[in-house]
Amino acid sequence: MTLINHASSSEIFAQRLREAVEQADGATLVSSPEAFASGDINTIVATLMVEKPSLVVVGPDSDVDTALMVAEQLDLNHPETAVVIVAPPTPTVLERALQAGTRGVISPDADQVEIERVINRALAAVTRRREVIHEPFTETKNRIIPVLAAKGGSGKTTVSSNLAVSLAHKYPGDVVLVDLDLQFGDVGSAFGIEPANTMADVLNHPGEMTTARLKTLLTPNQSTGIYVLAAPNTPAEADDMSPKLVADTLKTLASEFPYVVVDTAAGIDEFTLEVLDIATDLVLLASMDVPSVRAVAKEIDALQMLGIRHADWHLVLNRASSKVGISIEDIEATLGLSIDVRIPSSRSVPLSVNRGVPVSADDRRSPVGRAFEELARRTAHTEAAEQSWLRRRRSE
Ligand SMILES: Nc1ncnc2c1ncn2[C@@H]1O[C@H](COP(=O)(O)OP(=O)(O)O)[C@@H](O)[C@H]1O
Ligand SMILES: [Mg+2]
Repeated sequence: MTLINHASSSEIFAQRLREAVEQADGATLVSSPEAFASGDINTIVATLMVEKPSLVVVGPDSDVDTALMVAEQLDLNHPETAVVIVAPPTPTVLERALQAGTRGVISPDADQVEIERVINRALAAVTRRREVIHEPFTETKNRIIPVLAAKGGSGKTTVSSNLAVSLAHKYPGDVVLVDLDLQFGDVGSAFGIEPANTMADVLNHPGEMTTARLKTLLTPNQSTGIYVLAAPNTPAEADDMSPKLVADTLKTLASEFPYVVVDTAAGIDEFTLEVLDIATDLVLLASMDVPSVRAVAKEIDALQMLGIRHADWHLVLNRASSKVGISIEDIEATLGLSIDVRIPSSRSVPLSVNRGVPVSADDRRSPVGRAFEELARRTAHTEAAEQSWLRRRRSE
């Protein structure tokens, strides 16, 4: 049974929460208004955990600092319990809530529908997390690196292909590039290859997704040392893919390959959501135009609300140029994040796509090639973790 604990003495909010919980799947609300009375974090956590709830909703009357400290403790020591905070969702609160590992922030005057949305999402996340916790998969130290952008044409395929190639310079044979732009994926053409097998073939053998079997679906690219798992050949085949199948495929790959780089479709689709759940790194692309920056800002908000905090974020500015009337500082200020890597705009990029040889494969000393080496260095996690905006608290 799913238990939700409301740690607050606010009766008005509790009433709305109760109604929202009644709609949530089989959940029961318990209440610990006394939990925060002691003021001592360990005592608070112990009180909250008496009934082992799946979700703790804190506030709106508790002070935000204590609530966040409690959230942090729960996240570290009771990862199978999610925390949602009830507080005015200012950017500062959102960022701190994210860092503390909460699964969302509900405004004190949110209506029942909004409350329902946040708690359902938190419960779904905690269910997935419990599944992951109980799978041996979490033991892998391998990196899963999705490349995301809010809009098409931002350079996701360019960046994921070149990142994979740059990683393989250092770690040949250790890198697999997965094309998760299932409908219109074009990773194959970036390498000038027409893979005999694609992700669609995973479907032909449901139930026996062994590493050995999956390996037969990979296309080795000898000149670069990477493996490619191509997207289905037609959008119709892509329709048959399920998020669960995609998640299983990625986990299986990650149990074998130290680096799983994932090209994605624009925005955050249901498949990308699965990757986000298990990602160790997020490469987020922005371009130097106002609509793109706005779209990325929205995407960052969405990622924050999803509670993606276990991954290291790498913000990449593609087609960086000083001549477009918008400055790097403006972009960083709008996004509230600093740019980690700048990839210059260069004719060599479209030329390389047309030749089917990524820039990093034959011109790694060029400015574009060097930018990808820098991104590879960061995602390879030698010293990159320190510089990342959000750090995973490694318990291992
Ligand atoms: N840094 C760059 N300089 C010049 N052209 C680029 C650069 N990055 C991407 N492009 C071009 O922009 C287009 C879209 O890039 P692509 O990687 O396919 O984007 P997405 O996968 O996000 O849709 C391609 O024609 C690509 O060659
Ligand atoms: Mg693409």
